[in-house]
Amino acid sequence: MEKPELNVVTGAFSHSGKYIAGRLLAMGERVKTLTGHPDRENPFGGRVSAHPFNFDSPGRLAESLQGATTLYNTYWIRFPHRWGTFDNAVENSRTLIKAAEEAGIHRVVHISITSPAEESPFPYFKGKALVEKAVIDSRLSYAIVRPALIFGTEGTLINNIAWLLRRFPLFAVAGSGDYKVQPVFVEDLAEIAVSAGHKDDNIVIDAVGPETFTFEELVRLIADRIHRRARIVHVRAGLMLCLARLIGLVVRDVVLTRDEIGGLMANLLVSNNPANGQTYLSRWLTENADALGASYASELRRH
Ligand SMILES: NC(=O)c1ccc[n+]([C@@H]2O[C@H](COP(=O)([O-])OP(=O)(O)OC[C@H]3O[C@@H](n4cnc5c(N)ncnc54)[C@H](OP(=O)(O)O)[C@@H]3O)[C@@H](O)[C@H]2O)c1
Repeated sequence: MEKPELNVVTGAFSHSGKYIAGRLLAMGERVKTLTGHPDRENPFGGRVSAHPFNFDSPGRLAESLQGATTLYNTYWIRFPHRWGTFDNAVENSRTLIKAAEEAGIHRVVHISITSPAEESPFPYFKGKALVEKAVIDSRLSYAIVRPALIFGTEGTLINNIAWLLRRFPLFAVAGSGDYKVQPVFVEDLAEIAVSAGHKDDNIVIDAVGPETFTFEELVRLIADRIHRRARIVHVRAGLMLCLARLIGLVVRDVVLTRDEIGGLMANLLVSNNPANGQTYLSRWLTENADALGASYASELRRH
């Protein structure tokens, strides 16, 4: 009997990679993961082996990809820190793609973001565009999947909006708050990614949910679901960033970045294409209201 297909998923012990890995396993396929935390608790028991990224040792990186048919790549950094810059993350991604070519990987499903652009003033979005180009220029067959804001149990932004609403009498919104966001559920993203992985043609698709909100509507919706009053004050983006930094000092994290505020305000987290995620954030919030924002979700602690 033929062995089931082997996939490599980056970050299977983290956020979206965990749901992609879970979906592949449920379909009877084999999965190994590349991660910065191979010793982290393994939610899949012995079913997923963990290997370090080894970006500085491309030969070993290629070895850990050998035998796999498809690479599901979620690797990226949310902001520059001691762990490196966006330029480093672009270089690491190029190294990963080259290693995948050398290892004989057939297809890459690359998780990007809505509206990446090489000429973007936001290094996050520019870096994502440069990595997309590396994927497209590679010898690999590819699917580029571009989620807007991802929500789910391990998500940070929506949880942390709820955390702030639970603790502070006022909620600061940058600018008018009428810029839009189209959140996608992490399990829908995994389904879109895996289904794209099982196709053959080169594709670039957005991954977006069925609801679009203005940012202010999103904050009010979260407040409603957790039974808090949203007393919103509109502030300039610069002041918003200062406030986020102040709170960041208290929670020892980067709460919100300049690129995230800028990307939101420039309406980059929405799609012009029909929604392909099924899950309604408004319903998910109702079902998860008690846990939402009960504790702060820290990016620095996770990575
Ligand atoms: N989260 C969102 O709302 C959102 C929205 C749009 C697009 N995206 C894109 O979707 C993809 C997956 O996002 P996610 O939230 O699911 O990410 P994640 O699971 O937190 O991380 C994905 C992978 O990147 C690695 N990574 C993250 N930060 C790192 C750092 N500072 N240094 C080294 N490695 C790091 C993780 O390493 P470990 O395995 O060690 O954890 C993991 O392998 C990313 O490409 C992101 O740009 C996310």
